Amino acid sequence: MAGRWKNDLNWSDVTPRAEFLNRRQLLAGVGALAVGGIAGPALAKIDAVKTNYGRGLEPNSYEDITSYCNFYEFGTGKDDPSRNAGRMKTMPWSVRIDGLVDKPGNYGIEDIVHGVTMEERIYRFRCVEAWSMVVPWVGFELADLLNRVGVQPSAKYVAFETLLRPSEMPGVGSRVLEWPYREGLRIDEAMNPLTLMATGIYGEELPNQNGAPLRLVVPWKYGFKSIKSIVRITLTDKQPPTSWNMANAREYGFYSNVNPEVDHPRWSQATERRIGGGLFSAREDTLMFNGYGDEVAGLYAGMDLRKNF
Ligand code: MTE
Repeated sequence: MAGRWKNDLNWSDVTPRAEFLNRRQLLAGVGALAVGGIAGPALAKIDAVKTNYGRGLEPNSYEDITSYCNFYEFGTGKDDPSRNAGRMKTMPWSVRIDGLVDKPGNYGIEDIVHGVTMEERIYRFRCVEAWSMVVPWVGFELADLLNRVGVQPSAKYVAFETLLRPSEMPGVGSRVLEWPYREGLRIDEAMNPLTLMATGIYGEELPNQNGAPLRLVVPWKYGFKSIKSIVRITLTDKQPPTSWNMANAREYGFYSNVNPEVDHPRWSQATERRIGGGLFSAREDTLMFNGYGDEVAGLYAGMDLRKNF
């Protein structure tokens, strides 16, 4: 029954319970002793199958990825999340999955990752502010999770929400965005095999500033679609409201596909600056769909991408 607490994801019992769980429990125990580094408590390794995604791309350093962040709940400066996100409690963590699904409920993060094969995927990450990074994410396909909870045929979109816990989030006192942070995908975008639920980077659990314990990664879209620290996933038949579109619909559309031919109203999207490349490094040409056109261009066949930006 929708709304009632239940936990009925049918993970295969033949798979050993995810190491991830043991590590998180272990970390919960040692958390009090851990000394704060850039990401607060020490992070645990996640076993991940390496894939061919991103072959030939040189990842940014762990330092760049974890210190140059956007997570406005912790402040609007790039270094605010790394300084402030450590106070967000990520254990215990549950995700409410509801709407047009067969098995709605509140699922513990341990159950969500239980039995899942973690993959390492190196994706180019392109921010709307015209910079980019290459990140070795660890995660699993969103489609895996959606298939487990059973998407009903009437579902056309997936809506996501971030945790809203003002006592741990100094940035939400500011009205820069309406909270909780919200994002959405069309169902075919959500089911695309490139769309990842990330739980780690560089083979370790995500640090809080990068969206622990579970965040979305949609590599052909601008970074703001990649919502962090997810607590709710809703299947719906209507296009959901999204935070940046609500804040400024002229500048941020629902689709937000990386497109060098459609400029942001205040700056060009034709080139990008690679973070960590040094002050004088050449700008790179931005690729249509961030270079993932072979995989995703078909999703938008016949659509006017100037209107549907
Ligand atoms: N998710 C939440 N909840 N709050 C945010 O402010 N910022 C978005 C996205 N997800 C954001 C968020 C933006 S603008 C970007 S570019 C990416 O997170 C940045 O991810 P990173 O800090 O891991 O590089």
